[in-house]
Parts: sequence; structure tokens; C-alpha cells
Amino acid sequence: MSAPFPHLITSAGWSFTRLSQFLSLAQACRTALDSGAPKCWPVLQGKTVVNLFWEPSTRTRSSFELAARYLGAHVLNFEGSSSSVSKGETLFDTVDSLLQMGVDAFVVRHREDGLHQRLVDTFGAKTAVLNAGEGVSDHPTQALLDVLTLTQQVPLEALKDKKLAIVGDIKHSRVAQANLSLLQTVGIDVHCAGPEGLLSEATAQQFNCPVHRDLAPALKDADFVMTLRLQKERQEQGVIESLEQFTERFQLNHTTLERYAPPHVKLLHPGPVNREVELSSALMDDPAISLIREQVRNGLAVRMAALLVLLHPQPYEVTWV
Ligand code: NCD
Repeated sequence: MSAPFPHLITSAGWSFTRLSQFLSLAQACRTALDSGAPKCWPVLQGKTVVNLFWEPSTRTRSSFELAARYLGAHVLNFEGSSSSVSKGETLFDTVDSLLQMGVDAFVVRHREDGLHQRLVDTFGAKTAVLNAGEGVSDHPTQALLDVLTLTQQVPLEALKDKKLAIVGDIKHSRVAQANLSLLQTVGIDVHCAGPEGLLSEATAQQFNCPVHRDLAPALKDADFVMTLRLQKERQEQGVIESLEQFTERFQLNHTTLERYAPPHVKLLHPGPVNREVELSSALMDDPAISLIREQVRNGLAVRMAALLVLLHPQPYEVTWV
């Protein structure tokens, strides 16, 4: 049975055309946000969006909430820890109960890989499901906002001639996995760099991307470098030798960029940042190199576009003036 609702649960399998169309809509949202007009485009009036977050979040949760509100939808924010889940109710029973109240879209973050597909299998005919972060395997709206950020520097069609290095804790990062998937559609030359414990050859092989154990070859000729938070909460014992060694080998700072990367290189990081661990404070805050604030703003635009695509009958016909 094919579900009447579309869903946004994966970064894999996007066609170039679909990606390009989605990014145009996200860019229109970004332009509307930047126009200075009142942040009120009530095209999703009467729709209800529930944010279900079972893991901490700042940027993703706030931007999904603001996106839904700016588009005029009702929003319910729901945190697993303060709900009946703490009394033993399953997530599926929670979703089922909320559905009875009339929910059009569930935005879900959870530590379990594969959960979003199970939600679609169970509830997909009755509601839309959006993946706001899934275990260590996917985070599609993050990858979409990262690609939108790249396209504001270089047109989508021209990115296939550029190089992007992903550096750091790739093993525990759903952002890295999501980007490795979506960037295949973009066709950009992706290189990965990290210590053995945080980046396996198997991961890289799966995405056909060269692996480096040092920054130098990863940053050589790179147009973009994306570094990732060292995920201390998902770290098993002994995956890195020591924090000092990790920092010494893989921290991005002005010195490492000047030494190994071309002068035009731009920096991405999904946040939250461990300042002075994977990234120096000075580089993070350098507006000539860092696109981190753009990523955050694009996150809002991408989540507006995602809600429109799932909940609006003609998302590409929305007028913004
Ligand atoms: C990331 C996440 O939760 O996957 N944050 C985000 O959504 N911007 C990255 C992280 O936690 O390090």
C-alpha cells in the first residue's frame, strides 16, 4: 500500500532534480526570511506539527518549531523525558495517542537507528514523518541545510568540480553519514580524515571516499572543510588515544588551514561546537572563513521548505511577498 503522505526520513536516494527543486524552495524561504518582512506566511494554517525529541537539541528543535510557526501551523513540543514515556509507555503508543488528537506531521529525533522507517511503516498512512536526527545513521535536514549553504558559495551544478573534506568524529556522527549520502547526489569530491577509532575504512568504502589519517592530504586543494563535534556521549572507551592527541592531529585552526588548505577554503560545522577541541574559537568566529552562522540560518529555511513539501498541496507555488 502506498502511503498518502510523503515523508522525509532519509538522505539517501535523492535524485539531482528533486534535490535541485527542494533547494530552490529552501532558498526562496531563506530570501523571505532575509527580506525583513513580518515572519508570517500562514500557508500551513490549520495544520498541526508535533516535535518529538528524545535526544537533546538546540538548533534543530528550535528551527523546526519556528519554521512551523512562521508558516502558521499549530505546534506541540514534546520531550520524551517529561512525558508518560518515563512511566513506561512506548514511543509507538505515544505517537498513536497524539495521532488521535489530529496531528499532520511528527518531527522525530531518537537514538535508535531504523526507528523512522518503523514509524512510517506503522503510521505513515495517517501522518507525515520527518527525521530530525536518527541514532548515528541519518539527519536529512542537516545534510540539506549543509548543501544549501554550499550552493550559496558555488552553484549546485558546479559543485561536482569542487572538493570537500569531512574531518573528525565520523563514526559517531549522523551528520557525516547524512552528508556522505546526500553529497553523492551532488557529485562533489568528498575526502574523510580522522583517527582509526573514529573513521573506519568500511565507512569510507561504502561511500567511495578516500580516507586520510592526517589533515594535510584531506585539506589539500579543499574548497570546503566540514568538521564535527567529538561526540563524547557516544564514545566507547579507547577509541581515541587522548583528547590532546586528537586535538593536536585534527583540530582545525588558522595555523592548520594556512598550512594545508588553499586561501579560499570555507568552514562548516553542524554545531554544537566543542570550542578548542575539534575547532579553535578564533577560526569558528572568523567571518571570512566560517559559514557556521549561515548554516544555522539555512536550517530554518530548510525546515520551512521541508514542512511545505510535506504539508502544502502546492509547495512550489507559494508566494512570499
Ligand atoms: C547534530 C546532531 O544532533 O546530530 N547537531 C545538529 O543537529 N545540528 C550534531 C551533534 O550533535 O554533534
